[in-house]
Amino acid sequence: MHKQLHVALVYNIRPENPPVDKKEIEAGSEDERRLTSGGEATVVTASRTRTRKAKSDTYAEWDTEETILAVESALKAHHKVTLIEANEEAYGKLLALQPEIVFNIAEGFNSPSREAQIPAILDLLSIPYTGSDPLTLGICLDKARTKEILSYHYIPTPGFAVVNDPEQLVSAKLPLPAIVKPLHEGSSKGIFNGSVVRTEEGLREQIQNTLAEYDEPVLVEKFLEGREFTVALIGNEKNLRTLPIVEIRFDSLPGGVNAIYSYEAKWIWDQTDHPLDVLECPARVDPALEREIENICRRTFNVLRCRDWCRIDLRLDEQNRPHVLEVNPLPGIIPNPKEHSSFPCAARAAGFDYNGMLNAVLESAIVRNGLQ
Ligand SMILES: Nc1ncnc2c1ncn2[C@@H]1O[C@H](COP(=O)(O)OP(=O)(O)OP(=O)(O)O)[C@@H](O)[C@H]1O
Ligand SMILES: [Mg+2]
Repeated sequence: MHKQLHVALVYNIRPENPPVDKKEIEAGSEDERRLTSGGEATVVTASRTRTRKAKSDTYAEWDTEETILAVESALKAHHKVTLIEANEEAYGKLLALQPEIVFNIAEGFNSPSREAQIPAILDLLSIPYTGSDPLTLGICLDKARTKEILSYHYIPTPGFAVVNDPEQLVSAKLPLPAIVKPLHEGSSKGIFNGSVVRTEEGLREQIQNTLAEYDEPVLVEKFLEGREFTVALIGNEKNLRTLPIVEIRFDSLPGGVNAIYSYEAKWIWDQTDHPLDVLECPARVDPALEREIENICRRTFNVLRCRDWCRIDLRLDEQNRPHVLEVNPLPGIIPNPKEHSSFPCAARAAGFDYNGMLNAVLESAIVRNGLQ
């Protein structure tokens, strides 16, 4: 273990009572430690940036108080830790604090480059941080740009079209079934049971609905019916490590629904008091498939220039060949095993406890930045 460092943990906290559509909230506390009672204050910053339209899934990507405090506690086992909320005041606070390194879990505000905001500030301030740079974070929040890069490098990913207008579809001629997703979201926002379409009419309707609901283009992608896996990676270059493969168990979903890890499956049907047994790790895969998946994931990590950690979602086609669905360079890390968060699940199977997992990520960033 390296010397003790001053680490700033930079985060966005999910508000307990999100503001309703167009509601303005007056400025509140600046004390990041009042995480729960300051829940509304954290949203204040969002609404000051712009009057935001909050839907039920608006803050799904943001971390809860429980996660932020668990990360703080993990880092505190070895380092001095200061919490900084990723709002408009973050720049000034980071400038004044000058931490030796930032542990970045900030999801950011407003745009496809939201995850890049804090890393861009840190690059400007020459403060090292965990995880990928703004370029990679921005690209990976554009699922189509990510797929274009993967395709250039011959990494398999399902065929797709980006659609701004349902009429555009007539020329797109995508094979059915297809899945319709917002282009720039995560945490299965905008991906519901009805997002899988099997007819042209259904496709047009779903595109219309998704365009109307999310103010961004939609990705129409060939729907792969095979098994689904997600792979967590920690490290860099020669020390890049794939953790045991996680399988998404569609047989755990309620009867009759589409076999996808939808918003409903992640956030509605799977509750701690009646959990779905949705993650299996290590996945039961034969050694050849395991090698193929791991190889694809390492190449994906490297061509997208990911750093320190990442989680990659894949699905098998009719020939049982793996395709990359999307790349998460800022993976979710819910600590409670009952809440079925894939990255910590893979880490547990690899023998890491929650603290060990986070300190392995930090350690990768420390080594990469020569801070030993
Ligand atoms: N082309 C596809 N074929 C089959 N299933 C798909 C496809 N694209 C997405 N899915 C299903 O929808 C789920 C969510 O899609 P995706 O991973 O793109 O969303 P996300 O919001 O970025 O997810 P995350 O929570 O990992 O950030 C996938 O886990 C998978 O079950
Ligand atoms: Mg995903």
